[in-house]
This record gives sequence, structure tokens and C-alpha cells, in this order.
Amino acid sequence: MNTIEQFNQHVMGSYGRYDLVLEKGEGRTATAEDGKTYIDFGSGIGTNSLGYCNEKWVEYVCAQVKSIQHTSNYYYTKVQADFAKKLCEATGYDKMFFGNSGAEANECAIKIARKYSFDKYGKDAERNIIVTLKNSFHGRTMGTLSATGQDVFHNYFFPFLPGFVNAEANDIDDLKRVLAENKGKVCAVMFEFIQGEGGVVSLTEEYIRAIFEECAKDDILTIADEVQTGVGRTGALLTSQHFGVQPDITTLAKGLAGGLPIGVCLASEKCSGVLTPGTHGSTFGGNPVACAGGNAVLDTVLAEGFLDKVNQKGYDFFRKLSELPEVDHVDGLGLMIGVKLKTKDAHDVAKACLDRGLLILTAKEKLRFLPPLNITEDEIDSGLEILKEILAD
Ligand SMILES: Cc1ncc(COP(=O)(O)O)c(C=O)c1O
Repeated sequence: MNTIEQFNQHVMGSYGRYDLVLEKGEGRTATAEDGKTYIDFGSGIGTNSLGYCNEKWVEYVCAQVKSIQHTSNYYYTKVQADFAKKLCEATGYDKMFFGNSGAEANECAIKIARKYSFDKYGKDAERNIIVTLKNSFHGRTMGTLSATGQDVFHNYFFPFLPGFVNAEANDIDDLKRVLAENKGKVCAVMFEFIQGEGGVVSLTEEYIRAIFEECAKDDILTIADEVQTGVGRTGALLTSQHFGVQPDITTLAKGLAGGLPIGVCLASEKCSGVLTPGTHGSTFGGNPVACAGGNAVLDTVLAEGFLDKVNQKGYDFFRKLSELPEVDHVDGLGLMIGVKLKTKDAHDVAKACLDRGLLILTAKEKLRFLPPLNITEDEIDSGLEILKEILAD
């Protein structure tokens, strides 16, 4: 029995997978069981932010594995304290909570928003609605699935949690309508600056400003889900920094620990004291090995000039993709790019790329590019050559 047959015999079939068994990786190249190599334009859905087995990352992670791997949250570790200090200082947030995934980070944000209003306005006010956007994606737990504004994820799992209302993304009038219809009952508006799973759809600057203006009028918390857009992905540590705004809460995950499971919820002073002992927790949250990976990512991404390079590479990548004749349009920022094709099916193209040695993602009907942040211009060009040939076929 080969690996794929063995796997499928024992693992639930909740994913559509390619018939590819990856064995190792180096830099921006993954190698399969049969020795074939692949340029990686997907980084494990934006997670291997420093590529495979980055030297600094390996050094930090191995040192941590050899010293202490887990302690529980009854105790403290320096590696967690160092990580939290770095992240809070670099993002301007007061405090953070440790989880293990994007969904967990968002669950924490939802709980903070609800309890903030409960503490301040009382239970009877029932100020607990969270407005989320249509076409959003916030995770697969029942809470974050309820927050997600895409019907395609809502089949089968009824009933969902009450207290989530959707507004049309990039439609200021609709946002105002939803807030007016639920006046006095809304505790937060939650959004992605660029809807990743929704097909790499950017919110407009005007709409982003409207979210902050409308929320400020009524003490409504702003929650930015930067699980996919954060940690340098769009060319700034947080995408909010491109727009000069500071949401009350920001969630991060994917690229934060360079491929190890982590999720954090960052909170401003206004709501950083909401979670009191016993109100929230996670056995694995803040795992020291994951935090060591996170320290390697933060030390690299925050080093002088790194994010400038992400911006430059993202700009060049975006331009080169726009010039391809089969490309209808390109959206995104930095190294988070979505491409709508004119005639070809994105999923067929992704499969053809795989056959030719290029790992590439899709999101809805688009091709999606989330390469490691330290990819080189030459590697981008090599991958683009493969894509070009396939699009020209
Ligand atoms: C914006 C956003 N939020 C939340 C999630 C859920 O993250 P996880 O799969 O780590 O729970 C994702 C995953 O794709 C995401 O893109």
C-alpha cells in the first residue's frame, strides 16, 4: 500500500487533496517522495513565511525543543514573554492572548467583544451582535463559521450561533443600514482587509475608513482578522499599518510561527483587560516551540529592509502577472495576490502547474499567490515561466 492509500484508509476525507506526497523542503523548494522538486508559490497557505527549514528558524526551534517543549499555562516561560513583548511593541498593541490557529484567535476576539459590552453595558442591554462581511472567512469552528459570511461553508452544520449579522463588503450604505437596524445591539465589526478565502478581494480605503468612523460613533469594537494578511504578508507587519488605522483587536495566525501552529489575539488598552482569570484558555496556547518559531519569524520580518523587499517583490510580481495575456485582472497587496483568468479554469491551471513542478493555490475562481516572504526575484521568475507556458497552451 502506498502512502496515499494508507493515509486515505485511516484519515477522514474532509479535504480535496492533490496526489502528491511531500517529504522535505529547502528554501522555497519542496521535494516529493519520488524526488521531484516543486517551486512553492503557496507556502502551505501562507504559513511557511520563511520557506522551508530556514536557518534561523531551525536554530531557534531546535534550541527550544532541546530545552523545554511544553509547560501548561499554569507557569511562565521566557520564550513566550520575549515573543509577546516583540509582537506587542512592533504592532502597538497593549496585550495578546495565545491560541493555536486562526479560528482560535478569532474565537478569542469574539469573546472579548461580547464581554467588553457585557462588562460595560450590562447583560440586559444584549449588546452582543457582531457584524461581519459577506464573502468573509473566519474559520471552521462553530463560532467562526457562524461569523463567516459565505453560504458555501454553511451547509450541513445548522444551527449556527446567533448574534452575527452580515453587511455587504465595500458598500458603505449597506454597512450603515445594518448598524442602524441593529442600533444599540452591536458590540463589534469584524473584517479582513483583503478577503483571502473569498478570492483575494481587497476592501477599499474608503470603506475601511467608514468602518472605523461608524464604529467610533457608538463604542463598537473593530476586529481585524489578519490571520492571512498579517505578519508581513502584504508588505507591512500588519495590513492596518498601510492604512494608518489601529483596530481595537487584531488576530494573527498562519505565517506567525513559520509553519508551527499558533494563533494570537492582540488587544488595545481599551479591551486588553476584558479576559480575567478563568474566562478563556487553551492547553497548547503559547506552546514554547511555536513561540520559538515565532521569534525567528519576527526577528526576520522586523529586520531592517525586509518588508521593503516584500513590497518590491510584490509590486514586480503583481506587474508581471498583469502583463500576461490570459490574465483578466489582478488584486491584492505585497505577496498576497489573486488572479482572475480570462478563459481558463484556475483549478485546472493549478493542477497543470503541479505536474510541471510549481505549487500554486486557488481561492474561489482565482489563482492565489502566497509565496514565502523571502522568495527571490529569480525564484518568482522561474515559477512565472512555468505558469506562462501553461497559460499559453
Ligand atoms: C482570514 C482567515 N481567518 C481565519 C482563518 C482560519 O484559520 P485556521 O485554519 O488556522 O483556523 C483563515 C484560514 O484560512 C483565514 O484565512
